[in-house]
Amino acid sequence: MGLASMEGGIALATPIRLAVLASGRGSNLQVLLDAWRQGELPVEFVGVGSDQPEAPALERARRAGVPTRVFVCDNKAEQEGQIVAWLRETGTQLLALAGYMRLLSGDFIQRAGAPIVNIHPSLLPDFPGLRAQRQALEAGVKVSGCTVHFVDEGMDTGPVILQRVVPVLAGDDEDKLSQRILQAEHQIFPEAVRLVCRRLTGSDI
Ligand code: GAR
Repeated sequence: MGLASMEGGIALATPIRLAVLASGRGSNLQVLLDAWRQGELPVEFVGVGSDQPEAPALERARRAGVPTRVFVCDNKAEQEGQIVAWLRETGTQLLALAGYMRLLSGDFIQRAGAPIVNIHPSLLPDFPGLRAQRQALEAGVKVSGCTVHFVDEGMDTGPVILQRVVPVLAGDDEDKLSQRILQAEHQIFPEAVRLVCRRLTGSDI
């Protein structure tokens, strides 16, 4: 992939076809949708999928005019097969996990046909897995933060793209710390997606 055309001497890169998987509230999806709407992300949103039919993330996608898909299936291999088919059908070139709470298999990652990025609410490799903010509080650390990373078959183990440090303050509970980290997530997620798109197009957008 490369530069699609030249207009008035300005090189225009082909937008990257982006799909998002989300299981819940979808605030990180929303920042991507907002950045895209404002012309700040060089992507075309091709779809938002969820394993939760009632996920508020799906409503956010519908409001933005992005097609949605629900993948509900007891059999993990079958469910992942449906997602792979959707990625092919939509011509997805980049898959972003925005609060997608299922571990993807190595087989899925190989068959996805696109790099996968994930946002996680800790400074990985610290506190992978569920309730990372609570893990940070229990460990008594003075700083935590968030990470956007490429997904590999491990649990929150792939190469880091961006991280942001967030202080843990006296009197924090899980909710207060989660809110502070979420603000930082909303800053680095679109920035990381932009960096990956730049890498994919080999351009300077
Ligand atoms: C975010 O804090 C995200 O980092 C976390 O779930 C939340 C989703 O919020 N993801 C994980 O813990 C993945 N291991 P959102 O639905 O409002 O974007």
